[in-house]
Amino acid sequence: TWTMANVVEEQVERIRAQVGEGRALCALSGGVDSAVAAALVQRAIGDRLTCVYVDHGLMREGETEQIERDFVAVTGVDLRVVDAREQFLTALAGLADPEQKRKTIGREFIRVFEQAALDVVGDAKEHGESVDFLVQGTLYPDVVESGGGTGTANIKSHHNVGGLPEDLQFTLVEPLRTLFKDEVREVGLQLGLPESMVWRQPFPGPGLGIRIVGEVTRERLDVLRRADAIVRAELTAAGLDREIWQCPVVLLADVRSVGVQGDGRTYGHPVVLRPVSSEDAMTADWTRLPYDLLARVSTRITNEVPEVNRVVLDVTSKPPGTIEWE
Ligand code: XMP
Repeated sequence: TWTMANVVEEQVERIRAQVGEGRALCALSGGVDSAVAAALVQRAIGDRLTCVYVDHGLMREGETEQIERDFVAVTGVDLRVVDAREQFLTALAGLADPEQKRKTIGREFIRVFEQAALDVVGDAKEHGESVDFLVQGTLYPDVVESGGGTGTANIKSHHNVGGLPEDLQFTLVEPLRTLFKDEVREVGLQLGLPESMVWRQPFPGPGLGIRIVGEVTRERLDVLRRADAIVRAELTAAGLDREIWQCPVVLLADVRSVGVQGDGRTYGHPVVLRPVSSEDAMTADWTRLPYDLLARVSTRITNEVPEVNRVVLDVTSKPPGTIEWE
């Protein structure tokens, strides 16, 4: 019978047959697909896989740690975390335009990853080995859709790990090519990945960088990260993680409004909650979250994040709104 345990066994065999005694490289993004692909390949070839994770400083609270700690604990994978936080902040300084921010993040990402790939290959060479394989978390729908651009590509510059140095020649290893997302999640669970990783909702490559309307700074990232963590914790506590597609939290960093807290006037920033329901992110509806949940989130954010004095709900479907604000 076609069970996910069979799929794991079968793919492990295939990967071993393909890679033989060779070495492989895999870019982890924090997302489900790359994590499951890496875990499968690790099971097949052990420490002949090296994973690279670029920490651009635009991740949400706990995400980098989850990769560094939990993912490694479960898989035992050889992981290189590249701390590129300064580099990204420097590159983003002074930029407020959404497309400029997206392009800058994409460009820096490729730069950092290219260098990391060269380093891994260089280290292998020193030991008289080569890295010939690149692992990618391509899913069946990606295979079907490849070639045809999605409409959104014209609206926003989507960023994913794409380019590699031309002098690096890799053979692709794509162990998820026959699977749909729900199957990938099951494979992840089979491999022992934490539920929080396997059920992670979509999160854009440019991360929190496109959820701060205005310039991205360390302080603003810190404010947004704290507000976002509260929203995620409350959605999880309410058991809504699998019901909603995703819930971006957006910091309107250039907007301030007057408020009152205790005896004092405040002049803080609004955050926007953007809960959406969707099948494929091409269209979406705003999710009717329970009022008591919204109230709890609002109270907690304004109490626990002093820079924020207003919580606002986005009730726009897609179209005409997009899911992310930038
Ligand atoms: P929009 O904002 O276009 O988002 O309605 C649709 C879906 O795509 C995600 N998204 C991205 N994912 N790189 C990604 O990997 C990106 O640059 C990017 N921009 C948006 C968004 O979170 C939503 O799920």
